[in-house]
Amino acid sequence: MALPAVVPRHIAIVMDGNGRWASKRFLPRIAGHQQGVEALKRIVRACAKHKIAVLTVFAFSSENWSRPAEEVSGLMELLAMALSKEVSQLKRDGVQLHFVGARETLSDRVKHGFDSAEASTAENTTLVLNVCFNYGGRWDMVQAAKRLVHAGLAINEDSLARSMALAHCPDPDLIIRTGGETRISNFLLWQAAYSELYFCDVLWPDFDEGELDIALQAYASRERRFGKTSDQLAVGTLPA
Ligand code: FPP
Repeated sequence: MALPAVVPRHIAIVMDGNGRWASKRFLPRIAGHQQGVEALKRIVRACAKHKIAVLTVFAFSSENWSRPAEEVSGLMELLAMALSKEVSQLKRDGVQLHFVGARETLSDRVKHGFDSAEASTAENTTLVLNVCFNYGGRWDMVQAAKRLVHAGLAINEDSLARSMALAHCPDPDLIIRTGGETRISNFLLWQAAYSELYFCDVLWPDFDEGELDIALQAYASRERRFGKTSDQLAVGTLPA
């Protein structure tokens, strides 16, 4: 498939459908999450190939703690495995890793893994990969406001945006949700203000470069007006 003319700078993904992928195969849910990691590796490579600058993925939400204990501990184990197995390859591929979310309640092992993965990939420039872990859009707004209050600074759109956990990136141009649900589920509530939304029925473990191409084609066909009219866009400029 030909590359679309307009490629988003920043894609964010709600990687939904791992559990159903596993259930359909009479496998435990964690098997779906394991395949989810494989899908994520494919999409990281595809994004780098398409020269997308930033990929942000929702790996574990603030609300996921209420899942069965066995699934939560399985996801923590999978994260620890992925940190020990995948970071060196990501480093070689030029990926700059960021872990976005509340860290206080995570284990020392996970916190150390995040710190060391971020430090070892900090100089990379091919693709920024933000892994949202113990993250929620409401958490992000509250932590940003608290930081400003603590520093005695005024709260306005600019200062809040600069204090958000994703302040190192432009807002997402395209948010993809796999797995057939059509909701935002507390993901990037602030940053999604003008994002294009793309929903597909494909379960995350089945999402591949071909599916990404279809999403990119859909994105390329959208008209992004940022509150303006089509006529104004024809003569005006878009936000940087
Ligand atoms: C949603 O599918 C997916 C998650 C809650 C976890 C996503 C995690 C990965 C793709 C693996 C990468 C993460 C780590 C830890 C390295 P679901 O379980 O809600 O699926 P369902 O809707 O079919 O039940």
